Amino acid sequence: MDNQVIDHYFFDEPAYDYHDRGYVPLKVADAPEKPLNIPAILKPDKETATDMYYTVTAQTGEVQLLPGAKTKTWGYNGPLLGQTVIFKKGKHIHLHLVNHLPEVTTFHWHGLAIPGPIPDGGCHAPVYPGQSRDVDFTINQPAATVWLHAHPCPSTAEQVWHGLAGLAIVKDEHEAELPLPHDYGVDDIPLILQDRRFHENNQWDYRADYDPDGVAGPTAMINGTINPYFDVTTQKVRLRILDGANRREWRLHFSDDLPFTQIAGDLSLLPHPVEMNKLMITCAERDEIIVDFSDYHEGDVVTLYSDDVPLVHFRIHDLKRDNISIPDTLFQTPDPAVTPGLPIHYVTLDGMDESVAMNGKKFKMDRIDYQMKMGDVQIWDIENTNDKPGMIHPYHMHGCTFTVLSRNGHQPYPNELGLKDTVVVNPKEHVRIKVWFNVPGVFMYHCHIIEHEDGGMMAQIKVVDPADPNKQYHLMDHMTLMKAFAKERGVSLDDLWLGGMDSYKKMGMTM
Ligand code: C2O
Ligand code: CU
Ligand code: CU
Repeated sequence: MDNQVIDHYFFDEPAYDYHDRGYVPLKVADAPEKPLNIPAILKPDKETATDMYYTVTAQTGEVQLLPGAKTKTWGYNGPLLGQTVIFKKGKHIHLHLVNHLPEVTTFHWHGLAIPGPIPDGGCHAPVYPGQSRDVDFTINQPAATVWLHAHPCPSTAEQVWHGLAGLAIVKDEHEAELPLPHDYGVDDIPLILQDRRFHENNQWDYRADYDPDGVAGPTAMINGTINPYFDVTTQKVRLRILDGANRREWRLHFSDDLPFTQIAGDLSLLPHPVEMNKLMITCAERDEIIVDFSDYHEGDVVTLYSDDVPLVHFRIHDLKRDNISIPDTLFQTPDPAVTPGLPIHYVTLDGMDESVAMNGKKFKMDRIDYQMKMGDVQIWDIENTNDKPGMIHPYHMHGCTFTVLSRNGHQPYPNELGLKDTVVVNPKEHVRIKVWFNVPGVFMYHCHIIEHEDGGMMAQIKVVDPADPNKQYHLMDHMTLMKAFAKERGVSLDDLWLGGMDSYKKMGMTM
């Protein structure tokens, strides 16, 4: 590994700075510092040598986020966000998914390679209020940070905004044996980056803040904490960073330009650690970094910023020292050969505002847009057709694994050389990825600015198991889900408002 420290953001910065009518800059939080919330680890209901059983309940609640009134929130097994689920590679997982919300939801495991569309938990796996659903699957993928979020169409963005997002960690033996921080909550810390706008009485108001290009707020919320600090007691701290915001990209750096080491991306460790002092993360991506605080002393404070706004204050205590260096080789990224005869598959991310689409079409839940054979390996070319400066689109695929091959014919960024499920596509850029599925089913792929996804910048693929080529899947449709929302909200279909639906309506489309 060469020891050059990367000191710039790779992305098209003018696009990040593109202040379309909805851009909301972050502001310094007007709240006292509070300890960073560390989501508890979800306890299994039962565990055997081969199987693990969990219950995940979506519920409403309220949280003291700011001084004054509590904020009404939604969460999993708690009032806001979730408890961290630990999935061990090789185990068979049984999930009992319960909906105690007033409306329909789904439980999507973003980053898990599990069959679709039901275990995957996209829009075809609704759980209605007061009901539950049981799914089971086997974990067969390398160690990674993944996440759970709601995914009912077209109201994914609103439900995530209410708080339906939680972290999950896949563990395997290879990663466990590496000399990396592994002590959850002590030196292995999740950082779920989100932003919110607080209205009267400290409440959130999704509809008031609605923007078809993504809802954002001026206040950073980290693991559901406003203005957090974290007590550092070890020399090295591993941060599992998830961009859990609806639309915000974060440009991360520390005080003193403290360098850090990226060790993992979305779906695996990186082949080699990457030294950097600036890191940009876009919606739904995960980046794991190790920060070495050895040059600081008890009483010092090191701050993590996005641009010039503080996100987390790291309070340095008497540090437990170590002399372990991060290995130069962390992971061998699988690089399967492309299946002979398969053409490049082209995807375009089109438009902005209500006109967002993919390959010229808005998403339809009961339409299959493409088909692939399980086990095949294909090159996909993802193009952002927005003119510059335009918007960045973080492109995500369910159920698969991909690697990034090139950006407009150039090398991918050095920190995207592991396995990925989300990749940023800059305006007027073609990103080529190598895609394969190890599980069958129907899966969605879309922009992960969640309002773009709800607004129709999404499509779906049927992955055919050669052993069961004629398997049929029951697909939902927008109208069925919208009728459920209307009934649960006690309004007529005409009076029902859902962000994504608004996009379709304004384009003169019925669902
Ligand atoms: Cu985070 Cu359709 O997924
Ligand atoms: Cu996903
Ligand atoms: Cu987008």
